[in-house]
Amino acid sequence: MERTLVLVKPNGVARGLVGEVVSRLERRGLTVKGARMLMVSQELASRHYAEHVGKSFYADLVSFITSAPVFAMVVAGPSVVSVVRTMMGATNPLDAAPGTVRGDFGLDMGQNVVHSSDSPVSAEREIALFFSEEDLVP
Ligand code: RTP
Ligand code: MG
Repeated sequence: MERTLVLVKPNGVARGLVGEVVSRLERRGLTVKGARMLMVSQELASRHYAEHVGKSFYADLVSFITSAPVFAMVVAGPSVVSVVRTMMGATNPLDAAPGTVRGDFGLDMGQNVVHSSDSPVSAEREIALFFSEEDLVP
């Protein structure tokens, strides 16, 4: 079954939206295979966001994701990468449709509440950064 990495970013955790995000995924019929609350280190942030090195927003991105606890989870289901991306909404919450997480809970591009992997290849790379396989249920 396809898997994806979902992060509730620092502002989502601080606003008490972990349960809301988990609930939406579960109600959709997707399965949580593992989850943890953690502080993202500088090293983990730089590996997770390697594709964005050199972009104008990179420093702010790393500063934000390392600023306070995040909630990370591995979610599985059919076509889960694209299904979850659709549920999270457009990157800029100003463009995100109502009914999506970003469209319902945000206005700020930099603090857009959640992350989800953008392809199955990215998902497996990102899952390995945040989890050991023994931390995940089959
Ligand atoms: P994410 O990785 O967080 O799920 O978001 P995404 O795929 O929709 O967007 P991505 O291009 O991977 O960008 C990662 C995060 O960087 C911030 N960003 N700022 N100012 C800008 O132009 C800009 N572009 C991206 C966003 O917070 C985005 O979630
Ligand atoms: Mg991305």
